[in-house]
Amino acid sequence: MIKELKSLKAAVEKAVETAKDAVELEKIEIEYLGRKGKLTALLKGVASVAEKDRPAVGTLANQIKREVWELLEIKKRELTGGRLSVLGETEREDVTEPGIRPPEGHLHIVTQAIREIAQIFEKIGFMRTRYPEVDWDWYAFESLNMPPDHPARDEWETFFMDVPASEKGKMVLTPHTSNAQVRELERGELPVRMINIAKCYRRQSDVTHVPMFHQFEGLYVDKNVSISHLRGVLNYFAQEFFGSGRKTRLRPFHFRFTEPSFEIDISCGMCGGTGVGGDKQKCRMCKSGWLELGGAGMVHPNVLKAGGVDPKKYSGFAFGWGIERTYMMKEGMRIDDIRTLYKNDLRFLKQF
Ligand code: PHE
Repeated sequence: MIKELKSLKAAVEKAVETAKDAVELEKIEIEYLGRKGKLTALLKGVASVAEKDRPAVGTLANQIKREVWELLEIKKRELTGGRLSVLGETEREDVTEPGIRPPEGHLHIVTQAIREIAQIFEKIGFMRTRYPEVDWDWYAFESLNMPPDHPARDEWETFFMDVPASEKGKMVLTPHTSNAQVRELERGELPVRMINIAKCYRRQSDVTHVPMFHQFEGLYVDKNVSISHLRGVLNYFAQEFFGSGRKTRLRPFHFRFTEPSFEIDISCGMCGGTGVGGDKQKCRMCKSGWLELGGAGMVHPNVLKAGGVDPKKYSGFAFGWGIERTYMMKEGMRIDDIRTLYKNDLRFLKQF
C-alpha cells in the first residue's frame, strides 16, 4: 500500500511537470483526485489495511493527497501566471502614447463661398431657395421676356435635354439662376426676399469659364422698391464679402428681364480702385480700377406679370453673379484659371 502510494505520487509529479496547459492539468486532477480517481480509490482502501498499520498508512495517504493537491495548485498558478506575464509582453498597450490623427480635410472653396454668401444675405432677410437645376425653357427664358428664337438667348450657350417638350417648352440645364425668379413669384407670397444659389451650365470652357459653375441670384419684390435699394444691398454685400472700403458701381447694360439693367463692378482690391499698380503702371488685375462682377436690374414688368404679380403695385430688383468669379476677386486671391477650382488637385485645394 505504501509503495503504491509513493509510486502514484511519483506518477502525478511527472504528469504535472509535463502538463502544458490548464486543460491537461484538469485531466490529471480528475484522473487522480476525481470521484473515480486513482488516489481516491487508494484512499478508500485504507479502511481495509490491517489495524496496526492503519494509522501510519492513513497518515501517509492523507499527506500524499495534500501534496498532490498542492502540486496541482502550484502548477495551475504557474500556467495561468505564465500566460499573463506573456500577455503583458505581447499585448502591452501604452495608453499615454499620443494617438494617430486621421487626416482632416475641409470644405471645397466653392462650398465655403456658397455658405458665406448665403449667410451674408440671411442677415438682411434674404431666404435661400432651391429650384430645379434642370428646368423648362419657360422658366429659364420665356417667362424672363425672352420669347422662342429671341437672339438674346444666344448669350446663354444652353444645353438642351434630349427629352420630350411640354407646354412649358424644352428642358434645359439651367444656364443661370434667373429661372428662380418666376418660380419664386409663383408662390404668391409677397414681399419676396430670395437668395437662390444653384449650379448653372453653359457650353463654355476657358480660363474664365467652366461648363458647370454656380450663381447666386437675389430677388427683392415689394411695394416701392427702387434702384437705391439695389445699390444699398450691393454695397452691403461687397463690404461684407470683400471687406470694408470696397465700392460698387452700376454701368448701364441690357438684359431682357430687367429694365433698367446694369453691370455691377467692384473697386479693385489690388490697386484700391485707382487703376494704378505699385510700379506706377496700370494695375495688372483690373487695368481701370474696377472689376466686373455680374448683372442686375429692376425686374421687368413682363417678368412680374409672368409670376402673377401686378407691376402697377409692385416693383423689384434682381441680380445674378457667378460664385467662382466673385470668389476669385477676393483680396489676395490669385487664381488665374477658373478651371483649377475643379481639377481636384489637393496641392491647390489645401491652400484655402
Ligand atoms: N442671369 C443673368 C446672367 O446670367 C444675370 C442677371 C440676373 C441679370 C438678374 C439681371 C438680373 O448673366
